[in-house]
Amino acid sequence: MEKLLALEMVRVTEAAAIASARLMGRGDRHEADRVATESMRAAMDEIEMQGTIVIGEGERDEAPMLYIGEQVGMAGDAAPEIDIAVDPLEGTNLVATGSANAITVLAASERGGLVHAPDTYLEKLCVGPGAAGKVDIERPPAENVRLIAEALGRRTQDITVIILDRPRHTELIADVRGTGARIKLISDGDLSAAISCAVQGTGVHAVMGIGGAPEGVITAAAMRCLGGEIQARFRYRNDEERARGARMGHGDERRIYRTEDLASGEHLVFAATGVTPGDLLEGVRFFGGGARTHSLVMAYQTKTVRFVDTVHMFDRERPPSVRL
Ligand code: FBP
Repeated sequence: MEKLLALEMVRVTEAAAIASARLMGRGDRHEADRVATESMRAAMDEIEMQGTIVIGEGERDEAPMLYIGEQVGMAGDAAPEIDIAVDPLEGTNLVATGSANAITVLAASERGGLVHAPDTYLEKLCVGPGAAGKVDIERPPAENVRLIAEALGRRTQDITVIILDRPRHTELIADVRGTGARIKLISDGDLSAAISCAVQGTGVHAVMGIGGAPEGVITAAAMRCLGGEIQARFRYRNDEERARGARMGHGDERRIYRTEDLASGEHLVFAATGVTPGDLLEGVRFFGGGARTHSLVMAYQTKTVRFVDTVHMFDRERPPSVRL
């Protein structure tokens, strides 16, 4: 199932990436998100599945489409039942300002394979396969940096940690700096950052700090496929979020969620497409009559990680010549 599904899903993230990339640098993050969402929604309806959005653009009353609980796909009776977590555009500001690392992304699994998380924050610690199983979010950040360095056979000075550049991370940044490790402060995009730390050659070894919970669940699906790890705990901003979290079964704020808790599925599929040029994926490149996209598509069961380079021809009458 996931071999086919993975290739169908990448068409969904590709469509969203092409649509939102048109708005690069135009200063309108909402419009960039809107067109990504609309394209993702339309592309999903071409897939034969009985899909349910479990992580989406918000609750039914606050999001016009891809809201939590929405049914998507061309549902025939024999079509597989699939849960889907989407982030139609991770890094709306990045697209609005033409900055690096915006992606369109989703994860899918058999029913029940992705945790239902409210739109709140998670404190996260993400590492790649080399340090998976060696860190502990309950220990101080400096200790985790040392554990990562030890696991990777490096000095702490040769470790690079990505942290969202937010006032809430002042203390975390100071702690990590205290170890001598290098830090990459990012304005947005801790999901794509987490994937980078599980891919060798990106020069990133960990992601630490508080970011979106929906992004955390999609990160977990990616980490299952890549052999990396995410540890997380809910960090609610107010009582309303706390109550909503409790209703969804996340009332214990001390509970540590591990990769398998967030994405427990055995048939996980992950797809992401670059919108703006990034550390992991190229951005969308437009040319006369077409566009070229770069995506990452992974399937847990079939143990495949594919980088997909696609040429999209817009004009059948006058097809552009395809370049290597
Ligand atoms: P978008 O909504 O623009 O996609 O923001 C993405 C993001 O930067 C995530 O990568 C991150 O988890 C979250 O927002 C951080 O939230 P906040 O901006 O509230 O700190």
